[in-house]
This record gives sequence, structure tokens and C-alpha cells, in this order.
Amino acid sequence: MGPEILRDLTFDIPKSSFQFLTGPSGAGKTTLLRLLFMSLQPTRGIIQSFGRDITRIPRSELPMLRRRVGIVFQDFRLLDHLTTYENVALPLRVRGKEEGSYRRDVIELLKWVGLGERINVLPAVLSGGEKQRVAIARALIDRPEILLADEPTGNVDPPMARRLLSLFLELNRLGTAVVIATHDLALMDQVDARRMILTDGRLDIYE
Ligand SMILES: Nc1ncnc2c1ncn2[C@@H]1O[C@H](COP(=O)(O)OP(=O)(O)OP(=O)(O)O)[C@@H](O)[C@H]1O
Ligand SMILES: [Mg+2]
Repeated sequence: MGPEILRDLTFDIPKSSFQFLTGPSGAGKTTLLRLLFMSLQPTRGIIQSFGRDITRIPRSELPMLRRRVGIVFQDFRLLDHLTTYENVALPLRVRGKEEGSYRRDVIELLKWVGLGERINVLPAVLSGGEKQRVAIARALIDRPEILLADEPTGNVDPPMARRLLSLFLELNRLGTAVVIATHDLALMDQVDARRMILTDGRLDIYE
């Protein structure tokens, strides 16, 4: 299976907390986010999510827990044949919710991320920063208790990065825990937040 990427990590993500996860390329940031999203199981050790040990519970219970976590992937993962609106609404549609119960929420959220004018277009015509915001809106539509964002400012210019950062801070003020994986030092310097730094498989935390 190859070398161990992460080892002997002990940390927690407190309720309503805000932190950056950083470290050089290949250090394991995406891997750590996937562990937190419960889409990857550790080869050893324990991960507790919302009080449950996810390495021991039946796999069938994972989707229920995962619903409480929002994730923005490094490569967006939008569906090309769906509009902005449909991409964001997808998690709710998949759960069998009636469109009438969420339509207004989706539109309001898209306005909040500044995509009010791009609701009915396909991903192909969106800029990188716009796709990034669609992915953020999709991660938030189901009101997660924790948001994991993987390099959410990797494809945008500094002013847009600042705007996205203020969106995350506002979300955090509303009570959502936020973990932002990034190697953008300029971005991290804008906020006095907890920093989790991965190097050579180890994790150092600066409060
Ligand atoms: N599914 C996988 N199977 C085996 N090795 C993997 C897998 N995914 C990633 N890796 C390896 O794990 C290491 C950490 O990768 P990861 O993507 O977590 O790094 P990262 O910190 O997110 O890097 P970047 O800043 O470039 O996004 C790399 O050496 C990578 O090659
Ligand atoms: Mg990564």
C-alpha cells in the first residue's frame, strides 16, 4: 500500500472552531480531509466523528454522519451537465427532498456567494473562481456542522481569495466549524486563527 503518509496524529476539531491546515505539497492535507470526511479509513488508529468511532461503526451508518460534514474538493467535482442551481441542489435532490422545500434556499445561498447572475448556466461557461463558489455553495446547502475546504482559493486572484475568506469567517460566526487546507501564506496571515501544520507525516498545532 506504499509508505505511511500520516502517523501518530492526535488532534481535535472543536465545535464552531476555525483553523487552517497547511504544509508542503504531498504532506497529506487532502488525505487528512478525506479522513475527516469519512471517505477514507485510517489503516490504524481511531477517528471519532460526532462522538462515534468511525473506524468501528457499520459502513451503512457513515452516510448519516457524512451528511453533517460539507466538503469542497480541490478539483471542484461539479457535474458538467447540470446548471449551477442543479449542482448546488443535488445533495438535497439525492436525499429525495421536494424541490419546493429548497428552491428558495438554493437561490439565496447562490446570491450569498455572489452567483445570483449565474444560476442557470452550465459549469463549462464559469470561471475558476465561479466554479469554486458553486462547490462552496453545494458543500453548504445541507447546513453542515463542519466545512472542509481543500485549497478553496487555489484558483482565484487575491481579491477573490479575500472575499471567499470572509465568507468562511461569516459562516464560522454563524456556528459552523471550518477547516481550510491551504499553502497560501498571504491568506493565512489575514486571520489570527489556529494553524495545523503537516510535515513529514507529523502534525504541529499553533493556537
Ligand atoms: N489514494 C491514495 N493512495 C496512495 N497514496 C496516495 C493516495 N492519495 C494520495 N496519496 C499520496 O499521499 C501523499 C499525500 O497526498 P495528499 O494529496 O494528501 O497531499 P496534499 O498535502 O494534499 O498535497 P497538495 O498540496 O499537492 O494538494 C502523496 O505522497 C500522495 O502521492
Ligand atoms: Mg491536496
